[in-house]
Amino acid sequence: MIGKKVLFGTNTKMQKTACEAVMHIRRVAELTEDIKNKIELFVIPSFTSLSCAVPVGLDVNLTIGSQNIGWEERGQYTGEISPLMLRELGVQMVMIGHSERRHIFHETDMEEEKRVKCAVEHGFRTLLCIGETAEQKDYGISAETLRTQIKIGLHSVDPIEAEKYIWIAYEPVWAIGVNGQAADEKYANEMHAVIRDTLIELYGEEVGNRIPLLYGGSVNLENAPKLIVQPHIDGLFVGRYALDADQFANLIHKALSALDTQNMAYHF
Ligand code: PGA
Repeated sequence: MIGKKVLFGTNTKMQKTACEAVMHIRRVAELTEDIKNKIELFVIPSFTSLSCAVPVGLDVNLTIGSQNIGWEERGQYTGEISPLMLRELGVQMVMIGHSERRHIFHETDMEEEKRVKCAVEHGFRTLLCIGETAEQKDYGISAETLRTQIKIGLHSVDPIEAEKYIWIAYEPVWAIGVNGQAADEKYANEMHAVIRDTLIELYGEEVGNRIPLLYGGSVNLENAPKLIVQPHIDGLFVGRYALDADQFANLIHKALSALDTQNMAYHF
């Protein structure tokens, strides 16, 4: 895998107010200052935090993302957020298809496709989240599920756009949140390989190999080092464990030392 930096991000869901988000971002940046040339960091706070978080992100060299994006610039879409609104605030990244959006709010693969299309057209780095449910895993259709989510989600994205804008987070639904259990590293790596193959099928070797793949779902201090050294995992996407900035920074340091110990090249 070519490249230089390891990716670490967190989605703070509906857990922090704007003030709390800003303090969190500053603290994470401060505590990772020593390794900032080795990592690429992003934080995805609530919509109401974005206007304060974006300038702080710029100040500390950390990307700020939005937890969703609508698929039209304007219109009768109560509760949605427009690409123009995000652009106006200077947001650089959007997350689409998080498991909670798909499973609590019933967003479909086709809707995610529309969001992805809109995000790419507006020049946002686009983090598409995918993952199978426990039921799909039990039926042995994890790979099929991931392939479907990718093929529909990225249907309108061409290879140039894919290379420029798309990142993928693999987050098995059964691994996320308080009742989740992290995927073991071998299984996570296998699923990342399926994702990589699907991207190569869609975009060819060169572009398919360049799209960063992150693992998310109950990442913690103990499993982060094992996950990050897997050959198909380019970064970690952390929820609960990253809500505390000190814990998150510690996790990042531990993961990087694991890579150093294995003498592995940094990914993107
Ligand atoms: P978790 O959340 O780390 O709390 O399981 C991960 C996510 O939802 O991205």
